[in-house]
Amino acid sequence: MTRYSERIREIEPFRVMALLAQARALEAAGKDIVHMEIGEPEFPTPEPVTRAAIRAIEKGDVHYTPALGLPQLREQIADFYQQRYGVSVSPQRIVVTPGASGALLLALGVLLDAGQQIMMADPGYPCNRNFVRFLGGVPQVVNVGAETDYQLTAAQVEQHWTTQTRALMLASPSNPTGTLINEQALADITRIVAQKKAALIVDEIYHGLTYDSEPTTALSFSEDTFVINSFSKYFGMTGWRLGWLVAPENAINDIDKLAQNLFLAAPTPAQYAALAAFEPENLQILEQRRQQFQQRRDYLLPALRELGFELPVTPEGAFYLYAGCEKFTDDSSAFAQTLLHEAGVAVTPGRDFGDNQPEKFLRFSYTTSMERLEEGVRRLQTYLA
Ligand SMILES: Cc1ncc(COP(=O)(O)O)c(C=O)c1O
Repeated sequence: MTRYSERIREIEPFRVMALLAQARALEAAGKDIVHMEIGEPEFPTPEPVTRAAIRAIEKGDVHYTPALGLPQLREQIADFYQQRYGVSVSPQRIVVTPGASGALLLALGVLLDAGQQIMMADPGYPCNRNFVRFLGGVPQVVNVGAETDYQLTAAQVEQHWTTQTRALMLASPSNPTGTLINEQALADITRIVAQKKAALIVDEIYHGLTYDSEPTTALSFSEDTFVINSFSKYFGMTGWRLGWLVAPENAINDIDKLAQNLFLAAPTPAQYAALAAFEPENLQILEQRRQQFQQRRDYLLPALRELGFELPVTPEGAFYLYAGCEKFTDDSSAFAQTLLHEAGVAVTPGRDFGDNQPEKFLRFSYTTSMERLEEGVRRLQTYLA
């Protein structure tokens, strides 16, 4: 029998995918399910973007682009940093990638040697750990809780740093908690990481989807920070597989080399489509959507608290609520199964996001319409009563 790599044994699947498949099977059998497990906006890609894609395909813009991305798209992303954050970023430092996933792989690929550690928060986005393992590194997970808004603090970074730590990963807003890192902490952590002559990687994929304040980009604190972003979430383009990486100038040649080898380039029609993503007409549509997400958060957060879920911190961004469910269960995975089968509500158990008391948490996504969220809350209320 064919033997497969040891490396692949280290990689964990998204457990929520099995739950989603179960939900789909129940739907196929005629049951109605409220989806609060899915991490992508239900909105279609806005029309200015789809129109631009169709134009590009009709014109024959379907060949490989340079590995670092279409020059005009790199320039537009640079302009976006200037307009949105007032931060000047050279287009030369911007790399267009197949999703934030491609950006994470490139950043870790140029930073990590086998056996080295990458520090990250638990709970956190599951792929981060798996990418590090895939590259032969060791995820150095640090537990975070409500008392620090589920974000790493400068003191924790200092405390857990080892001689093997090569880089630190942050995400703000975070998946699964929706919480932001405060600016002072980000500034302090940037300084600490620079003192250690290590790298800071900040995942800003949920930027644009914030509801109480506009966070600044980690790029405003240092030109040496690696920033990950994407057209998936705020821009509503998950399936187009397009993201970007902003990297220090002296890393770009290595990233170019790695991108050429790993995937040649990001998808060309998607890159042409994304040129329309920054047009005022499109940004207006995205702003309306952001407001809808805010309304949903403002509805779902108090509704879940009312039902008895614990949400001590107000999540300020993304479209997730990471809710404590200790009042109902000491096994959130089994509880998610029960909610799916008995209440017709699909949610993601904490287990997908790490080892930090995952059995006490469920992630609720508000990526579905207000009416469906209200229906979901009604079902939970009936079931829990
Ligand atoms: C925190 C975070 N980073 C990165 C990604 C990957 O996004 P994509 O590759 O679609 O841009 C996701 C997707 O859910 C995410 O939640």
